[in-house]
Amino acid sequence: MPTHTHDLLVIGAGPAGYVAAIRAAQLGLDTAIVDKEKQLGGTCLRVGCIPSKALLESSHKYEDATKHFFAHGIEVSAIDLNLSAMMKRKEKVVKSLTTGVAGLMKKNKVRVYHGHAALTAGKSVTVGGDTINATHVLIATGSVPTTILGVSLDDPLVDTSTEALSYEDVPEHLAVIGAGVIGLELGSVWRRLGSKVTVIEYLDRIMPGMDAELAKAAHKAFKSQGIDFMLGSAVQGVSSDKGGVTIDIKDAGPVKADRVLVSVGRKPNTEGLGLDQIGITPNQRGQIEVNGKFETGVEGVYAVGDVIPGPMLAHKAEEEGIACVENIAAKVSGSSGGGHIDYNTIPSIVYTHPEIASVGKSEEQLKEEGIDYKKGAFPFLANGRARANDDTDGWVKILADAVTDRVLGVHIIGDSAGDLIAECATAMAFAASSEDIARACHAHPTLSEAVKEAALGVAGRAIHI
Ligand code: NAI
Repeated sequence: MPTHTHDLLVIGAGPAGYVAAIRAAQLGLDTAIVDKEKQLGGTCLRVGCIPSKALLESSHKYEDATKHFFAHGIEVSAIDLNLSAMMKRKEKVVKSLTTGVAGLMKKNKVRVYHGHAALTAGKSVTVGGDTINATHVLIATGSVPTTILGVSLDDPLVDTSTEALSYEDVPEHLAVIGAGVIGLELGSVWRRLGSKVTVIEYLDRIMPGMDAELAKAAHKAFKSQGIDFMLGSAVQGVSSDKGGVTIDIKDAGPVKADRVLVSVGRKPNTEGLGLDQIGITPNQRGQIEVNGKFETGVEGVYAVGDVIPGPMLAHKAEEEGIACVENIAAKVSGSSGGGHIDYNTIPSIVYTHPEIASVGKSEEQLKEEGIDYKKGAFPFLANGRARANDDTDGWVKILADAVTDRVLGVHIIGDSAGDLIAECATAMAFAASSEDIARACHAHPTLSEAVKEAALGVAGRAIHI
């Protein structure tokens, strides 16, 4: 059995793991990474963020061509959907990026192992026939889809996001369980491509956790696009036969569909990892608990990303990976430095159209915490660029402390919301006031002027409304 030694072994080559490996190599650590999949990049690159955004973009273009071009004076006579070509493009994007990650590993001299990694007593890691001894082991194994009681993911007509990213035909009727990020993004893709989509959600609102006003506006927009919603509906079971799937809902009639997408959340991926071998017991939610330096409590073993508590977001995972290895490098060199993360400035985005983006506190959170706040809002309808683009749905809302004016939260629904939120997250990272954003010059004509106007609106002095 060949034995290898490294300063750091990262388990899992998703955004948390591969980014951590690059940073560790930059800091001079002899670094290795292991992944059970041939393609590096994890769920995000292979079957998550990237392929879903590829399909969101393609389906958006298709919808534009079929419904919106005429408003720009572009008349097209026949538009055909070539789903197989759309899927091939998506695969090409995935391949280019996963190959890119492999290239980055090479460039940074990170040794890559392929296979299932298991921790063994004594803290060495086995990968197939190899044994790897590393001074530091970073667990970044991500998450896997979860389901609910009575809904088996083994049923061929019951899908997770992985299958829903690769349908060979457009389902006539797609039922979606869960009105969270995956349900709304993939529900949008298949609705645009021609499916009837019914989203069944347990709560009486969509996008739980996000600002309620934002969720309400999004709900209205998706309904007007043709997605059907059944809110306050608890799914009790799903059965299938040749005719399709039947979804049983508590206190309501069953829903029949051709396929069902289960998007009720994800769970940490720790199966077969050997945590018990080294004395790590996951918490009730299956997560590995860590301290501020991502230490697990077992000397030399760390964890970051979806496998630890916090939002399951690729960018959160990346930041954790970097902060973690910066702390390891500081420990190795005996310096006092190290990375840290401001969890309050991590944006979250739903890549639908309109796009939805948030950073910081929602109005509900501020009320709950008894924080007095002022609010400035600005609709894209009053923004010149949005008018020129013929894409005026949505608004920007800025919440600032009533006394200090410090920005506490920003919520945006509209075209490019996910890009606009970056300015707000950066401003918050610098502890900006709404006045700071309002006084900064924003180029004209851009959608970003709506952010400036919302900031001006906090003090009641927006210009264009
Ligand atoms: P989610 O946690 O975002 O939403 C799950 C939804 O299912 C919730 O609305 C919940 O109330 C509902 N639900 C739970 N049990 C139910 C039941 N029995 N019947 C009906 N509804 C039920 O989970 P989702 O969408 O599966 O995403 C998983 C993770 O992946 C999330 O943490 C998400 O942040 C992440 N992700 C992020 C993306 C992004 O940042 N754009 C894209 C895709 C996923």
